[in-house]
Amino acid sequence: MAIKFLDLKKQYLDIKGEIETAISNVVESSAFVGGSEVSAFGEEFSEFLGGSVRTLGVANGTDALEIAIESLALPKDSVVLVPANTFAASAEAVVRNGLRVQFVDCGADYTMDLADLESKITEQTSAILAVHLYGQSARIEEILEIAKEKNLRVIEDCAQAHEAKFKGQCVGTFGDIATFSFYPGKNLGAYGDGGAIVSRDSVLLRKCEEIAHHGGLKKYEHRIVGRNSRLDNLQAAILRVKLRHLAAWNTRRRKVAKLYFEGFKDCDSIILPEVKDSCFCVWHLFVIRIKNRDAVMTYLKQKGIEYGLHYPIALPNCPAFSHQSYVVESSTPNASAWQEEILSLPMGEHLIDEEVKEVIEAVKDAVCG
Ligand SMILES: Cc1ncc(COP(=O)(O)O)c(C=O)c1O
Repeated sequence: MAIKFLDLKKQYLDIKGEIETAISNVVESSAFVGGSEVSAFGEEFSEFLGGSVRTLGVANGTDALEIAIESLALPKDSVVLVPANTFAASAEAVVRNGLRVQFVDCGADYTMDLADLESKITEQTSAILAVHLYGQSARIEEILEIAKEKNLRVIEDCAQAHEAKFKGQCVGTFGDIATFSFYPGKNLGAYGDGGAIVSRDSVLLRKCEEIAHHGGLKKYEHRIVGRNSRLDNLQAAILRVKLRHLAAWNTRRRKVAKLYFEGFKDCDSIILPEVKDSCFCVWHLFVIRIKNRDAVMTYLKQKGIEYGLHYPIALPNCPAFSHQSYVVESSTPNASAWQEEILSLPMGEHLIDEEVKEVIEAVKDAVCG
């Protein structure tokens, strides 16, 4: 039986009626940009995160990061600490703001290693970009403490962590400012690109709004040099429908992860992700580590089981981020070693128990013989 890594068609069919009504309402209204769905989604998303932040919709998660960082007005050429194990957008947004990146290694939960983080802070460091990777919160409480002590700003990248919590509080509500992606494959995904910036700080969020809306809050008022980055009304309407299902979908992801943990517990050759007690993980990805990855991938392919690699090349090893003037050289041994071992297994609410069991059997056959 073929097993999909992600099944957006199945998800659509489950909510087809709601989606089609939402789309047709927007098309009938002909309000495609900046309409009522965008403001309603912003309010509902803020509420979903616990009500302490406000939301600004933007065109995608990369823009969200770029604009959020710009709003902080960090000193030019200062250094932002970024995890070595994340998607390229996190580091791109720093460089595109005229800042320098210093990579921090990951720990066994795949988020920033705190000892490495602390050791890399210098006079030039201005901010920490904490990425809540694979659906799990970074060690955000300690990161905030370190940042406070060293007078650093904290940006949270929550692209992979919609509804993830640390000690019961949603990620995105801890730092100075936070960003989300609604890329279709995310836990909360649009039917195209979409993103959001959230913050408790209304001054910062207003600055982001100005940047994203051509430099002003009113039409033709260009107070600063801005740009265009908007969440459109159609995507917002779709996201409003999907937001109503997100908690149930995340519950199912947690059940799938539990089945993986149970299924692999007697197989020492498979290194399972470490999950912090304080973290409510929403399992955007379920990433294991194995030594004989190529053989396992070949076997899974034969069995029709899809998989992914997140990420095949750790950012410090990518040409864009190695030995460049905007990257502070530093070693990240875990991220470099683990890029050869990580394997992302099918994960999502689309999986039925039998499929998860089939994945477990196939991986165990390939790894343990
Ligand atoms: C950790 C992380 N940050 C940022 C982004 C960028 O989001 P987008 O694709 O919406 O621009 C992604 C998307 O994959 C991501 O995984």
